[in-house]
Amino acid sequence: MFAITASHPSPDDPLAALVLGERPDPSPPAGWEVVEVRAAGLNHHDVWTLRGVGIAEERLPIVIGCDGAGVTADGREVIVHAVVADPDGGDETLASDFSILSERYDGTFAERVAVPSRNLIDKPASLSFAEAACLPVAYLTAYRMLFTRGDLRPGERVLIQGAGGGVSTALILLARAAGLHVTVTSRDEDKLARAEELGAHLAVGSGDRLPHKVDAVMESVGDATWKHSLRALRAGGRVVVVGATSGPNPPADLGRVFYRQLEVIGSTMGTKQELERLVAMLDATGVRPLIDDTYAMTDGRQAFERMIEGDLFGKLVLTPG
Ligand SMILES: NC(=O)c1ccc[n+]([C@@H]2O[C@H](COP(=O)([O-])OP(=O)(O)OC[C@H]3O[C@@H](n4cnc5c(N)ncnc54)[C@H](OP(=O)(O)O)[C@@H]3O)[C@@H](O)[C@H]2O)c1
Repeated sequence: MFAITASHPSPDDPLAALVLGERPDPSPPAGWEVVEVRAAGLNHHDVWTLRGVGIAEERLPIVIGCDGAGVTADGREVIVHAVVADPDGGDETLASDFSILSERYDGTFAERVAVPSRNLIDKPASLSFAEAACLPVAYLTAYRMLFTRGDLRPGERVLIQGAGGGVSTALILLARAAGLHVTVTSRDEDKLARAEELGAHLAVGSGDRLPHKVDAVMESVGDATWKHSLRALRAGGRVVVVGATSGPNPPADLGRVFYRQLEVIGSTMGTKQELERLVAMLDATGVRPLIDDTYAMTDGRQAFERMIEGDLFGKLVLTPG
């Protein structure tokens, strides 16, 4: 089958590790099944894997791709929950054997992917395969950041750092649908205008002073925005961190953290139950994932180039064939 693989850790030139070509078909163990992939969302996670971040070298080469939607052998249309962990009745994202598809097991940038049967949820007819393929990483992560870890309530103010990314656009859409007051930052004037069209109440340049403090900040940029995130919070506010695209070690500014009684909260992916609730939320609100563009998997290199350059607004989706 055709697949997109990470061949070796390539920290400075991720595209050098990107291999498009034939791979053996998956052979699922007991309790797993094969999904014919109809669409797969691209995430910054896939770029990190090419760079060798978050993956042990001995796992490579591995088929990349965490997001996927498709059809099982018995014709069921499904969305794949990307968190692979032994079910113990608890929160899968906290399990000791937690991994995301493409970290330990082959991922979704392929014609077929093997996944545990328990990771499949029904795709509603109201969502296209491309829309469904955006949900398991960016949209699920945004859902958990806002409503579980961030515990945001309608009427509260939220700041989203970085307007254009997959997680950021998901945060804007879900936050607006939930009745939050949404402020967004970006380095790019065009993206600020597009964030406002998408529903942001206020869009400001990266690092610009806000006219008001916020109850919570959704942070995925890291070094470039951390100082601004802490300064934007009201006393007692919280910052929810899921990523560090621009670097993971900003000055902690501990004085501000204790004196203003701020909370720093980590968040990663989401549970299968949260994915089901996200799908129900989209059904109830009519919100649909924002897709920037769709590429054939054979043209996957172009999609990666755009993500690495930061030249996108919304999700990039790959389709087989
Ligand atoms: N923990 C988890 O479960 C989880 C899940 C999903 C994603 N993540 C992480 O979250 C991050 C975003 O993921 P994604 O897939 O949404 O990536 P993406 O689509 O590539 O988005 C990157 C975002 O970062 C912003 N940005 C990048 N460099 C910046 C800089 N120097 N200054 C200001 N803003 C900058 C961009 O904003 P503008 O271009 O608008 O300025 C854009 O919104 C990644 O680091 C990813 O690994 C973590």
